[in-house]
Amino acid sequence: MAKRWYQEHQRDPWRRQARNSGYRARSAFKLKQIQERHNIIRPGDSVLDIGCHPGGWTQVALEEVGGLGTVVGVDLRPTDPIDGASLLTGDVREDGMIARLSSENSDEGYNSVVSDISPSLTGRYDTDQAISLELSAMALDVAAKLLKPGGSFVTKAFQGTGIELLIEACKKRFSFVRRFSPTASRNASSEVYVVCKNKKPSSERLDSAIEYIQQGLIDAGVLVGDEEEDEESVVGFRRL
Ligand SMILES: C[S@@+](CC[C@H](N)C(=O)[O-])C[C@H]1O[C@@H](n2cnc3c(N)ncnc32)[C@H](O)[C@@H]1O
Repeated sequence: MAKRWYQEHQRDPWRRQARNSGYRARSAFKLKQIQERHNIIRPGDSVLDIGCHPGGWTQVALEEVGGLGTVVGVDLRPTDPIDGASLLTGDVREDGMIARLSSENSDEGYNSVVSDISPSLTGRYDTDQAISLELSAMALDVAAKLLKPGGSFVTKAFQGTGIELLIEACKKRFSFVRRFSPTASRNASSEVYVVCKNKKPSSERLDSAIEYIQQGLIDAGVLVGDEEEDEESVVGFRRL
């Protein structure tokens, strides 16, 4: 198993290309492909990169915004400095982080929020997919608070239960919503990116994407309601 992983790792053309191009992670090419197809970042933009470690997406965002733009990154893990970016360490779910991210941006809101956020994988697909869905919903809630009207948002998700609800929640906030699978994603991967453009004015927003998805999962019988549920038995949106 370890030998196969090592051989695949060595053969990975995106990893080689990332090394040759000076990117910190092969995932840089995923954002480049999203950008080529959907043009979510413009020169001069202010960009927030959620789940930025080790910094591949931040590097690409800096190239796209050019000298007049700004990029702020946040991750649970410390990210080595990148010239021109402001990098915070912390949990985007924590109270106070939204205010910190907001104060990093001198403008009235970000033009673009990009999120490649992903949990530490357990290897159990249902659990990983459910935690990832919750992180993506949380990133959507952060984007809804910090984006300017007209702004764009992209987040990673894994195919499976609840992804349609995530897309519905995105459609309530953005007038353009598409799924996109970059060729730089690993062949066997079930990851997909949800690309959203043109954030609607705040009057049309729903309160919380997390609650919207949670309710949808309860209605579908995937989760049980609060009154029946022992909180510790729920991981992400998954009832264990
Ligand atoms: C796939 S990596 C991101 C790679 C990055 N886009 C790049 O190109 O270098 C996903 C990141 O999400 C971060 N993450 C997961 N949960 C988080 C949370 N609650 N708050 C902030 N970052 C989180 C992880 O620490 C991890 O570094």
